[in-house]
Amino acid sequence: MIGMAVVGYGYWGPNLVRNIADTPGVQLLTVCDLQPERLASVKGRYPAVTVTSDYEELLRDPRIHAIAIATPVSSHFRLAMSALMAGKHVFVEKPITPSAEEAQRLVDEAERRGLVLAVDHTFVHTSAVRKMRELVGSELGDIYYYDSVRVNLGLFQHDVSVIWDLAVHDLSIIDYVIPEKPVAVSATGVSHVAGEPENIAYLNLFFESNLIAHIHVNWLAPVKLRRTLIGGSRQMIVYDDLEPSEKIKVYDKGITLTGGQPLQGGKDVYQMMVGYRTGDMRAPHLDVVEALGSEIREFLHCIEHNGTPVADGQAGLRVVSVLEAATRSLAQRGRVMELQPARRVA
Ligand SMILES: NC(=O)c1ccc[n+]([C@@H]2O[C@H](COP(=O)([O-])OP(=O)(O)OC[C@H]3O[C@@H](n4cnc5c(N)ncnc54)[C@H](O)[C@@H]3O)[C@@H](O)[C@H]2O)c1
Repeated sequence: MIGMAVVGYGYWGPNLVRNIADTPGVQLLTVCDLQPERLASVKGRYPAVTVTSDYEELLRDPRIHAIAIATPVSSHFRLAMSALMAGKHVFVEKPITPSAEEAQRLVDEAERRGLVLAVDHTFVHTSAVRKMRELVGSELGDIYYYDSVRVNLGLFQHDVSVIWDLAVHDLSIIDYVIPEKPVAVSATGVSHVAGEPENIAYLNLFFESNLIAHIHVNWLAPVKLRRTLIGGSRQMIVYDDLEPSEKIKVYDKGITLTGGQPLQGGKDVYQMMVGYRTGDMRAPHLDVVEALGSEIREFLHCIEHNGTPVADGQAGLRVVSVLEAATRSLAQRGRVMELQPARRVA
């Protein structure tokens, strides 16, 4: 039986606590939060669970093998690093840290100690995103573009811009679904509240091939949209996360190119003829599973079998590296920032 603790019982922490409490093979021992009323809420719902405001208690408890961190991003590095140094496996909320340098240090520390470091990239554990990865690897053909709109009248955050709150989801989906890694990023955006971070932003990711990704995020939209298009040479996907069923539709549509006649004037250029192919649309069956539950089960499996989670520290690092470069680009009105390939610990 693996003993676990959760730190942070605000908006998202209760989802972690519920899923850990409901998962066989793990015992939820302690929940830590700085606010007494949050701890009272834990006690009301889970009387057998110990509560504390002292994080050090978790680190000292030998029955606790793993710690899940659901506190604000600015505290992730300190809490995760001290957990790893105390020999605990770590499951940390997205984004893993506020900087790539800190994410790299967590990755290195976990590898050195042989501990599991998982990041909650929730979407990569949904049936819809798993199906998209399968389709991208099989039926779509060459991938031409990823185009996403993720907007709503969202909670304005004071410490991070909209890209750290919303684009992080698309970046984790791209990291999981698209076999190629981005080589550069450009971002534009503005704030409509003086002195606050950007609340609307447009990101472009560039790849070695002619694949392009575009992400539009906005906290100031009148309606909620969560819609992604993935265009391939053979088929295309429309993914609407707000659809109760049929979240994914696969379109057998595309173009066919045929060589034409040489252009007038003797130039060595051929006009391509573009033909259109319109076939059927289908909505693949998707299993109904709570992503967080399967993430927790995968985390436990990795602890028991020395495995690597799908969204491991390296995945968290790759996503934060793009967010960091995009933040620099935002400050320079979309200047293209090259991305460094991820370094592995020696
Ligand atoms: N995976 C997802 O879809 C998803 C969704 C929402 C939030 N999140 C992530 O979850 C994390 C928390 O976000 P939230 O919206 O729940 O924040 P929140 O502010 O609602 O809750 C954070 C809680 O942590 C507690 N806390 C802060 N510092 C602490 C410390 N040092 N020790 C103990 N407790 C501490 C606070 O008292 C608060 O109760 C963030 O990283 C966020 O990005 C993920």
